[in-house]
Parts: sequence; structure tokens; C-alpha cells
Amino acid sequence: LPIKHAQGPPTTPILGNIPDMLFGPGPEVNLKRIFNEYGPVVKLFTFSTEQRLVSDPIDAEVVARESEYFTKEIRFPFSVTKCLGGDGLFTSSTSDPHWELAHKLLMPTFSPKAIKNYTHEIFNITIALKKIFDTFAKDGTPVPLNHHMTNVTFESIGRVGFGYSFHVLDTPDALSHPFLEAMGYCLGELINRMLTPDFVKAMPLPANKKFNNSIALMKKTVDEVIAARKSKPKGEKENKDLLDFMLNAADEHGTKMPDGLIRDQVITFLIAGHDTTSNTLTWAIWLLHQNPVWLKKVQDEVDGLHWSLDNPEQMDVSKLSIVERVLKETLRMHPPVQRISKVCKKDTVLPSGYFVPANTNCVISANALHNNPDVYPEPQNFNPDRWLPEEESKRSPFSWLPFSIGARGCIGRQFAMLEAKIVLATIVRYYHFLIPGAENVKPLTSSAIRKATPFNIKFFNREVG
Ligand code: HEM
Repeated sequence: LPIKHAQGPPTTPILGNIPDMLFGPGPEVNLKRIFNEYGPVVKLFTFSTEQRLVSDPIDAEVVARESEYFTKEIRFPFSVTKCLGGDGLFTSSTSDPHWELAHKLLMPTFSPKAIKNYTHEIFNITIALKKIFDTFAKDGTPVPLNHHMTNVTFESIGRVGFGYSFHVLDTPDALSHPFLEAMGYCLGELINRMLTPDFVKAMPLPANKKFNNSIALMKKTVDEVIAARKSKPKGEKENKDLLDFMLNAADEHGTKMPDGLIRDQVITFLIAGHDTTSNTLTWAIWLLHQNPVWLKKVQDEVDGLHWSLDNPEQMDVSKLSIVERVLKETLRMHPPVQRISKVCKKDTVLPSGYFVPANTNCVISANALHNNPDVYPEPQNFNPDRWLPEEESKRSPFSWLPFSIGARGCIGRQFAMLEAKIVLATIVRYYHFLIPGAENVKPLTSSAIRKATPFNIKFFNREVG
């Protein structure tokens, strides 16, 4: 086949293709138009960097995997994320020995056996959430759903990962933890910081001060989490959780993680471990609200299993198959991480025939991949039956990449799915819900993670047989 060269919209001076992405109907619609016009691999020029965006599963397979051709490398403009995650797993290059060491040491904490051990604590956290929702159901107060989903997922990673409570589920009116405010601010500033020269970032401007104070607050929270564990009497230290592994595990040469790296990993897990799952839950509940036929199917499933928080040890989460399909379809339609960024190590011809020169940033667009009508007929429709085993097996595993895949795929994938299943099953089992103005909910295009425009929800108690 002849080699093809990716095309893209003409560039403007300095800003490159940024206006093509940001202006008008917003990045998602713009990108769809660009793919329609220029083909499955497009060339864009942003932040003074040339990149390729891919949207086809056959190309995603090659780009997603670590290989002699592609790798995850933290370089400009993504290097600005280092000010949050430092050398933590998410924000380090595959070639970085810190990544290799942490990957090796931490993988066992996410093995299926380890995840199973976390189930008990996730149930405890869900019980605390139910207590809160019961008070809302009693007085019919509309409440911001994402705030509560964020509190539950943040508390989970704190308690399950680090044996530390942020106390955000102690009372129904608990505010967000200051860490979340600081993190939200910093994530929102990242694009600005990509566009700002280093010397301006070093100036004593109010925006820089706020950014630096937010980072300092996040580090302080992490120091408290680590100090709380270190101060526990010896007998109580055997938690065998993520933090325990970080503090004690060593590789075959006896190398342990240095303190600074542990701090980076704790911040990384606090960030990566909650916002993604909370937004998935928020979208799933909204999608069920908008699709009553599917809501009924999920209710029938949880009722049939007599899903109950009264005897969690008897609940078999693996039986929640419709709940799981709903979550997979939610992640297809609303992948929290919308761009998976890699770097091409040497000249490559992708399976679709497009040439990618060495040293080019190459991005898999999860939105484009998940909305490809050749792979997902009527992609705009919510249809969890796409995830029936016989349907799923017809598709390439590279046509659904909300967690990416391979060595740099999400280490917390099983944990996230376990948590989301338990929380969603519980909400559907114990409550009816109503979202006033649900039809106006849209994706928020400006955020790094795919969020819904904030909305309120009303809970009503449901007869549980
Ligand atoms: C990596 C998605 C939940 C921890 C990733 C990546 C994606 C992703 C796409 C790869 C990013 C890249 O290539 O740059 C998600 C989604 C989640 C979720 C959609 C929930 C629905 C979690 C949870 C944790 C977690 C619960 C922690 C308990 C991480 C870490 C990495 C990662 C540490 C970096 C792994 C590495 O490169 O070695 N996640 N994630 N994630 N995720 Fe998740």
C-alpha cells in the first residue's frame, strides 16, 4: 500500500491549531469535524509541537503499547503536569528508573487477590454514603451529585490505599476536602501554564502564588497521611495496603522507594484514584436517569441478587453483570481521560498506512475511538448490550481504551470498577432519583477530566424487598 501522510487544518502563527480545537462548538465537535475532513490520522500543531492524533483501533493498538516504536514520555507540553505528580507513576516516562521501580513494587497491590481484600472497606465506605443519602431522601433536598461522588471516591482511596480518613463522609453537609479544592485549581490552570513562559511562572504574581500555595497544601496533606502511618504503634502498622508497600517493599536488589518518590506516589494516587471514578459514577447515574429502560434492568438485577449493605460479606460483586455493562458503556461514551499521549521513537508506518516521523507526539483520541460508527453503530446511543460477551468479542480490545492498556495502562482499573460497581448497585437498589433539568447536562469541555456540567439530584427511598 502507498504510504500516506497525515493532513490537518492550516495553522495560524504562534497558536498553531489551538483555535481550531478551542473555538466554535468546542474541542470534541471540532475534533470530530477534523477527523471527518482529514481522515483517521490527523496532523495538528499545538504548543509549538507537531502531533498526530489517531482514532482507529488498528492504529491505537500500535500507539498504545510500549514498544520499540512508541512509548509514554513526559515532555512538553505535558511536562507541566510534573508540578503535581512529580516522579509518580502517572507523570514519569517509561524510560525513567523511578517509573520502573514503582511499577514493579506497586503492581502486587493491585493484583486480583489484593483488590478482593479491599472489598470490605469499600462496603464500609458505601454504608457511610448511604447514611448520608438517607438523610437527603428523608427531606427531599436536591444535592450536587458530583460533590458526593467525589467525596466517596476520595475517601475510598484515602482509606483503602493509605488507611487514612479525610472525614468527608462523616456528615451529610461535609464540605470538599481542601486537597480537592487545591487540586481542582491546579488542574484547571494546567493549560494556562502550558502557554506561559517559565520566567513568567517564576514571577511573584497572584496567580502564581495561588498555584504554588495549592501545591504546598497538597504536599502538606500527603505529609499528614504518611506521618499518620509512621506514628502508629508497631503492631498496628501491618496494614498491607498501598502505603505499607510503598514504605517497605524492595526490589530484587533491595532497592526501596526514597521518601520523595513515596510522596509523589501518594499525591498521584490521591489525584488519579478519585476524580476519574467519581465522574464515571456521575455520568452513569445521569445516563440511567435518561434511559429508564436500562434503569429498570439494573434495578431488576440488584433486586434479583437481594443486594444488601446489611450483609456485605455475602454479596458477590462479580454477579453484577448488567451494572458492569452499564459502567463499560458509560466509559465508552464519557471516557474520563480523553487523550492518551505517546511519543514515536523511530519512523513508523501505522497499520492504516500513515507515516509518523520519529520524535512526534502521538495521541489516541478516546472520544474519536469510542464514537467510531464502523465499530459502534449509532455511537450516540447508550446501549450497554454492546458489552454482552458475544458482542464484545467481535471487536478489537483496542476499540475501548478508557484505561489505556499494557504496561502504562491504568494500575487502578480493577479497583475503580469494583468501587464503581458497589456504589452504583447500592444507589440503584436503595433509591429512586430525579435530576431536574437533566436534558441540559453536557460535557464540560474546559476540564482535563471529562466532567458533566454540575447538576443536582433528588433521592427518594425505594422499597427494598
Ligand atoms: C493511569 C484511566 C482510576 C491510578 C491511567 C491511564 C488512564 C487511566 C487512561 C493512562 C494514562 C496515560 O496513558 O497517560 C482511569 C480511569 C479510572 C481510573 C478511567 C476510573 C474510572 C484509577 C484509580 C487509581 C488509578 C482508582 C488508583 C487507585 C492510576 C495510575 C496510573 C493510571 C497510578 C499511572 C500508571 C502507570 O503509568 O504506571 N488511568 N483511571 N486510576 N491510573 Fe487510572
